[in-house]
Amino acid sequence: MEIRGKSAVITGGGSGIGRAVSERLARDGASIVVADVDEAGGAETVKRIESAGGSAVFVRADVTREQDARRMLDTALQKFGRLDILHNNAGIGTGAPGFPIVDPARWHLVIEIDLQAVILGTGLAAPIMEKQGGGVIINTASMAGLYPHRQDAVYGAAKAGVVNFTHSLAFWAVEKKIRVNCVCPGIVDTPLVRRGLEQAAQHGIKSWMPSRIIQPEEIADAVHTLVRDDSLFGCALEVRPTGRQIVDPRPAPGSRK
Ligand SMILES: NC(=O)c1ccc[n+]([C@@H]2O[C@H](COP(=O)([O-])OP(=O)(O)OC[C@H]3O[C@@H](n4cnc5c(N)ncnc54)[C@H](O)[C@@H]3O)[C@@H](O)[C@H]2O)c1
Repeated sequence: MEIRGKSAVITGGGSGIGRAVSERLARDGASIVVADVDEAGGAETVKRIESAGGSAVFVRADVTREQDARRMLDTALQKFGRLDILHNNAGIGTGAPGFPIVDPARWHLVIEIDLQAVILGTGLAAPIMEKQGGGVIINTASMAGLYPHRQDAVYGAAKAGVVNFTHSLAFWAVEKKIRVNCVCPGIVDTPLVRRGLEQAAQHGIKSWMPSRIIQPEEIADAVHTLVRDDSLFGCALEVRPTGRQIVDPRPAPGSRK
């Protein structure tokens, strides 16, 4: 999809990966709805985009609430006249002391934000995009959704759900002309990771870190590829410190899988 002139909603756009994606797509000429519960962070993203000559608006939206999710999508239609791209990106980790000691309310919230809200956002955007003749949905999963996550099993389960949801929508998406893909980052230098490290240290838990931490702009680059490349649907794009790799589970033509 050509990005110039399009309209994108980015959840969790007030920080880290969501901010980098918002700035990247805005630089390429898309108008951005920055959706987040963090008003200060969202306003800062909008300010950065506008001072670089781009177009953006902030909507305070909790992605777990249907009325908020509807509002962020409606804002794209009202302000920019269309909805071409939805990036379901907002997410949290369980945090220390982790499962199963953690308060169940926390792990319920992880599943709600990291998985259920992705399904909710996709379901609400689909009829709008279909009516418009197509669109692109990108979900932020994680390498924790592709491989076991030793320190956060609940987060891993939620992200594995996002990966499979994305893979499973491949054929539906083609029918509706809505390409759904997900990005699976390794460890990225964002407040989420910094908070996680601090919390783990407070609980005396040792954290493993790779020798090179990925920068949010590298994930924005990967998302840019998923938006631009019309041949990709139902795929996971894994982003490691050493490079990128597409996981494409589509069965061979003629297979009954
Ligand atoms: N940082 C990493 O290493 C890493 C790796 C793999 C995947 N991810 C995923 O990338 C996504 C972005 O994470 P990040 O690292 O940029 O974190 P971050 O904490 O910097 O940004 C996340 C944003 O989501 C917002 N948010 C949280 N709950 C929300 C809700 N209910 N409604 C709306 N907004 C909400 C936060 O306010 C914040 O602005 C998450 O889905 C995360 O799981 C991160």
